[in-house]
Amino acid sequence: MIRLAIQKSGRLHEKSLSLLRDCGIDVQNGRDKLKVEVSNFPIEILYLRNSDIPQYIEDGVADIGIIGENLVYEKSDNLEIIKRLGFSKCRVSLAIPKEASVDSLSYFNSKKIATSYPNTLRRFLSENNITADIHHISGSVEIAPNIGLADGICDIVSTGNTLYQNGLREYEVILQSEAVLVKAPTLESYKADILEAFLFRIQAILNAKNKKYVLMNVPNVKIQDVSEILPVLKSPTIMPLAKDGWSSLHSVINENKFWEVIGELKDAGAEDILIIPIDKMVA
Ligand code: PRP
Repeated sequence: MIRLAIQKSGRLHEKSLSLLRDCGIDVQNGRDKLKVEVSNFPIEILYLRNSDIPQYIEDGVADIGIIGENLVYEKSDNLEIIKRLGFSKCRVSLAIPKEASVDSLSYFNSKKIATSYPNTLRRFLSENNITADIHHISGSVEIAPNIGLADGICDIVSTGNTLYQNGLREYEVILQSEAVLVKAPTLESYKADILEAFLFRIQAILNAKNKKYVLMNVPNVKIQDVSEILPVLKSPTIMPLAKDGWSSLHSVINENKFWEVIGELKDAGAEDILIIPIDKMVA
């Protein structure tokens, strides 16, 4: 049995659960329980406060966890990031009142900056030779300049809406972040085996992300032209149609690239193009 810590609530909670379900792990909705056992995979889920997760893993209460990369940077030098999960992307940024005129980072010298990320901010300021007064507050950081508590803030920005609503603007990105799977510094070997099986499933999901299965009908004489345009991952599958002189061409493609070439494909003779989502992909 391996113990996985995920957020009890917060921006990563739903997506962490959804990743587990996509992995075929049958997690019962356990918001009111702190520990949930799973019947079809040797994993136990701990629902914990976001900011406590790194410490629980370092202390060996949990073996692995899903947290924001920003929290690893802020709270722990000991956790190992084993997989970037590609969701809950955000950044930790310095922000200032909209009307403040700032032409360089030296503006922050001797200023008060409110933040929930004091270590991250301290490192950034030190790397940039800025000496500022750091006010550590644990939530609602964006309100600090409005109530005269600080000249600027350092906090998570995702859509930028909270900054906007509070009359602030993003000035400098300190750190880019996304959800990551982290592990304890040491793991017993049977747990390492379970982790490997878990990672295998996660990788199959990540592989399928942004990939689509594509099918199209192509006159046989145009197969070569169409195949050269199609941004396929590997060689396409070609199957004859009942209609003489035509084939169905199947492949897996990167969706973004596909949109760039769809016009060319049609011009080259592709017809009846179907694009189908892929659930999992084992390379
Ligand atoms: C974070 C952060 C901001 C907000 C920014 O809070 O503290 O308040 O998100 O997001 P936006 O740019 O999309 O408006 P979160 O809801 O994660 O909770 P927290 O206060 O616990 O950090």
